[in-house]
Amino acid sequence: MGAPSPDNVFPLLNTSLLGRQLIYEQSVPSTNRLLAELAEGGAQEGLVVVAERQPAGRGRQNRSWFSAPEQNLTFSLLLRPALAAARIPEIALLTALSLHSALKTLFPDLLINLKWPNDLLFEGKKLCGILCESAITPAHGLQVVVGIGLNVNCPQQAFPPELQMRSTSLRIASGKEQDRSRILAEFLNQFEPCYQHWLQDRDLSAFLPAWQSADLLYGRNVTIDTPGGLVSGQAQGISPDGRLRLHLPDGRLTLVSCGDAHLAPLE
Ligand code: BTN
Repeated sequence: MGAPSPDNVFPLLNTSLLGRQLIYEQSVPSTNRLLAELAEGGAQEGLVVVAERQPAGRGRQNRSWFSAPEQNLTFSLLLRPALAAARIPEIALLTALSLHSALKTLFPDLLINLKWPNDLLFEGKKLCGILCESAITPAHGLQVVVGIGLNVNCPQQAFPPELQMRSTSLRIASGKEQDRSRILAEFLNQFEPCYQHWLQDRDLSAFLPAWQSADLLYGRNVTIDTPGGLVSGQAQGISPDGRLRLHLPDGRLTLVSCGDAHLAPLE
């Protein structure tokens, strides 16, 4: 199956902006890092960087991101939303939702869940991670780099031992090799109208029903590892600004801005 290069992706795209410029590389340290540098130099909204190998791939909370070479999708997309910076955290959730919707279109038989803030899981194992990084430069204003690592064709034995129990791929879930170009194009095709809709709205309200229908955490007892410490309670979906609604044991409702969610209690 073809590599996710311009030759293979362009014929499948029906976007007007996103992915119309696409850089395909064999190896870059991190597609997020390269795209941030290109953005600082004035790159236009919609530019996508895809790499087959990413030796210094970055994850959330300063973790690294493993991706088996030439098997998966590791790519970054540049956005320049003309919005208040306070709305930027919503982009990660919008990305997760659009990718979820694209995968539902391509793989209607797979039950894929969303895990706040922006993971996609299949049977409780991680299929995809999203890292959004934003900056403002005097010359070019706001840039948001949306980085996506999606495990597409990675066989189980190719994950390092520490990820074996926690990670999965579309190939493992579906039982066959999948076309990365088709998945990338379908994501961009679905993300573009969602992004335009979201830019015109005040918040994520229009997307909350879709989130709830795939929400892994909804109604479950969770512990969130936040920068300020652990918070436990019952997850009650997300608020229009993308924060997690958590029902605390004392009956209060709190909104959590960031952190890692765990279904099991943490010590
Ligand atoms: C996570 O921790 O779950 C987020 C992982 C994000 C990985 C992607 S792969 C493409 C892009 N480039 C990076 O260096 N990271 C993101």
